[in-house]
Amino acid sequence: MTTLSEAEALDAADPLAAMRERFVLPDGTIYLDGNSLGALPRATIAAQQDAVSRQWGEDLIASWNSNDWIGAPQRIGDKIAPLIGANTGEVIATDSVSVNLFKLIVAATRLRPDRSEILTEPGNFPTDLYTADGAADILAGRRIRTENADTIIDAIGHDTALVMLTHVHYKTGHRHDMAAITAAAHDAGALVLWDLSHSVGAIAVDLGGCEADFAVGCGYKYLNGGPGAPAFLHVRRDLQDAVLSPLTGWMGHAAPFEFRDDYEPAPGMTRFLCGTPPMLSMLALETGLEQFADIAMPALEAKSAALFELFAEQIEARCAGHGLELVTSRDPAKRGSHISYTHSDGWPIMQALIDRGVVGDFRAPDILRFGLTPLYLGYADVWRAVEILADILEKESWRDPRYAERKAVT
Ligand SMILES: Cc1ncc(COP(=O)(O)O)c(C=O)c1O
Repeated sequence: MTTLSEAEALDAADPLAAMRERFVLPDGTIYLDGNSLGALPRATIAAQQDAVSRQWGEDLIASWNSNDWIGAPQRIGDKIAPLIGANTGEVIATDSVSVNLFKLIVAATRLRPDRSEILTEPGNFPTDLYTADGAADILAGRRIRTENADTIIDAIGHDTALVMLTHVHYKTGHRHDMAAITAAAHDAGALVLWDLSHSVGAIAVDLGGCEADFAVGCGYKYLNGGPGAPAFLHVRRDLQDAVLSPLTGWMGHAAPFEFRDDYEPAPGMTRFLCGTPPMLSMLALETGLEQFADIAMPALEAKSAALFELFAEQIEARCAGHGLELVTSRDPAKRGSHISYTHSDGWPIMQALIDRGVVGDFRAPDILRFGLTPLYLGYADVWRAVEILADILEKESWRDPRYAERKAVT
């Protein structure tokens, strides 16, 4: 079993360890929730100060040109592209994941007018299922079909217009084989839309290598773009001229400042814009992305895998017999960057952990979920988090009635 001094030695040898200093992480907190809301980059404080005081306060409306606010969705998209194996001009930062899913589900299925099926898995992130339902409602003759992750490839058929999956499952952490599923969909004449919300910024993603058609993802988790940060969407270059957003807002027009009555889609990804971008949030996302400038995604993924192994090993050694069941794969190729356990008393245990400074989250009905953000989490953090969890389980301190009270956000 790894000792604390061995974990500290791993931190000392970690080439990514210096990244931690770039983030505001309160003393006494072990932050295992970067997969829900990433930590605040120190640089964001100064950049937001500049965005508010100078760009908004002094430059006012001129900022759309002089500070290139107008070019931010494309510029930020180009900073996301290398993190997901996409090319320049294939990604745009805009709206929320939900809105972008809706745009792409409609746009993609319209490319396959003779096929009726949108194929996904049961238990996909709710917004993916809900937006697919909403899209199917307005697209005459389309229906959603759900098939379990392990049989999804066999379920792709000649009536499948779109396969829509979350690359890394938000609860279990299960990672789909993007290359195999995309290839199987293409062989059957279907298109594929990947939700990268739990992948981007944590593991290596190769949309280009897989020839994936469409993708979306969020900016507030591993990209550290801040609460409610804009999301992004990706369309493979050769499909861009053939697809149209159903949300034909003026920012997606070819010439928005000609104020014409008729809609003409902008070339490339710009047609997927809808309304005015939230500039302060856009700029916070941009600063979050700048933290990845010198980072190789495979190195980040390797650290994530090592943090996971340490966490799992420590839980086995120190928490055995307390009812925790690992639901995330031990095979690094089959998971993302979080580790999840089921426990029938998951909610109060997580509240007791948070009370002791170990911030993870609970996903109903019974999942304790810990995000292992490789950019700023260390091995000693993992070691200490498990030590505290073991203590809570051993002493049953989670039984304190104040930990039973449910909150609006879990
Ligand atoms: C896989 C996945 N998709 C979508 C979302 C949320 O989308 P939105 O940005 O629209 O809230 C989440 C949020 O956690 C998620 O995990």
